[in-house]
Amino acid sequence: MTSYQLKTQSIYSGDCLKMLKDIPDESVDLCYLDPPFNSNRNYEVFWGDVQEKRAFADRFGDAEAYINYMRPRVMELYRVLKKTGSFYYHCDWHASHYVKIMLDEIFSFGNFRNEIVWKRKTGRGETQHKSNEFGVSTESIFFYTKTRKSTFNSQYSFDAIGYDEYLKKTFRHQESDGRIYRIDNLASPSLRPNLIYDYKGYKPPKNGWAISKEKMIKWDKEGRLYFPKNKRGRIQRKRYLDEVKGKPVQNLWDDIQPISSHSVERLGYPTQKPISLMERIINASSNKGDVILDAFCGCGTTLIAAQKLGRKWIGIDISPTACRVMSQRLYDLYKLREGKDFYVEDLPKTEEELRALPHFEFQNWAVIALGQLTNTTGVPNVIKTGDFGIDGRLYPIEIEKKKKDDKDLFGDTDKYLPVQVKQMDKAGRPDIDNFVSAIRRDGRDKGYFVAFGYSKDAEKEVKRLWKVGEVDINLIEVSSLLKAESMSK
Ligand SMILES: C[S@@+](CC[C@H](N)C(=O)[O-])C[C@H]1O[C@@H](n2cnc3c(N)ncnc32)[C@H](O)[C@@H]1O
Repeated sequence: MTSYQLKTQSIYSGDCLKMLKDIPDESVDLCYLDPPFNSNRNYEVFWGDVQEKRAFADRFGDAEAYINYMRPRVMELYRVLKKTGSFYYHCDWHASHYVKIMLDEIFSFGNFRNEIVWKRKTGRGETQHKSNEFGVSTESIFFYTKTRKSTFNSQYSFDAIGYDEYLKKTFRHQESDGRIYRIDNLASPSLRPNLIYDYKGYKPPKNGWAISKEKMIKWDKEGRLYFPKNKRGRIQRKRYLDEVKGKPVQNLWDDIQPISSHSVERLGYPTQKPISLMERIINASSNKGDVILDAFCGCGTTLIAAQKLGRKWIGIDISPTACRVMSQRLYDLYKLREGKDFYVEDLPKTEEELRALPHFEFQNWAVIALGQLTNTTGVPNVIKTGDFGIDGRLYPIEIEKKKKDDKDLFGDTDKYLPVQVKQMDKAGRPDIDNFVSAIRRDGRDKGYFVAFGYSKDAEKEVKRLWKVGEVDINLIEVSSLLKAESMSK
């Protein structure tokens, strides 16, 4: 056993291979992971940067490279999972067969519980596919336990396809008070000599009843028995519709909608999973107070569901932007405050760490931090290419809130200020010229520029533009964003 402390209600920013080393052995009840797949349709990067996507496709171009990347991470997850713990690996057809073999090796075949097939009710695959193959409308979730002694709570659903019609067809009787019920056989399927008895003048079935006489009396008192008018008929059991828990959930999940452009919970993150999917997994394989871990956390759907269901949680993501989005989401939905109700560990805090970030991550960081500094909301661009020199926008806080209610956070609005970000030590005069053109093209006369520093020429030009009343550019240094961040904590 390692001597690390388990820190729950924490989001770790970094590669899970490294961050998991801080989590003690056998301390987690449930691990879910939804890592980037072996497919360039799924992005490991936040809000899909084209260049990064290509780099990703190159890196995981073949299944072997993908499995080699995932294996040490899954082994760490196996280490931190309690003996009674459960493990769910979410993937799609690109790598699922290779993933299954890897998981059998790590968990052993005997601890494989289910392949859950999530049939997205709607989705890309159902409408568009190549002419020479079938469309794809499912994803796989491999469910393993560390040992056979694991938590499992059966799940029920009313939303399974066709279940409504089934209920309508089978629950056809109604009490005088309006209660709807169906009648069910009370005969024992196999011979039960001790359960062969007459009841209120009704003869027993050939094999006897399915219940004892005491139970028959009890159900009779509760009005749960159906007595046919003809005494030669058979007593049956009444099952009330209002007591039905739903259809027991099997391994085909066809009742959970994917996130669509109209989903209320949509954040604009391409691989965001529905909260209800995570709720089902958490409800099935954990109890209140248990520890849930998602090591590829994205925009934090697992954490949101875990919080809602009274579980402790830990999230890890390599993208600092993802960690910030999770933090914001926890505040938006539950008013949980970073630094008080939960913690975000290892976000870049120094200029050196910021210099080392991938370019798009640095841009996201800068735009969001600038929003905090200027008391506006900084929204990084969704699409990094073809945006003509604008990397993000600052919105007045009340407009941003309104847009959030509209579920259109990234749509256009008239009231914003453009932001340009350069991950360079000295942004120069040509950079300023380009930004001025971008601001003008955008029909604005004010904007913000973020870099580590500026050349004398750049500063001179900004002063001149302001003096002649042409364009007002605020030059912001990364050091002042860092200072403002540390003071706000
Ligand atoms: C498919 S998304 C997860 C989406 C998530 N289930 C949700 O509903 O929001 C995969 C995430 O894994 C993160 N990631 C990729 N490699 C990682 C690594 N080595 N360690 C931690 N996170 C990683 C990516 O930044 C991305 O946010």
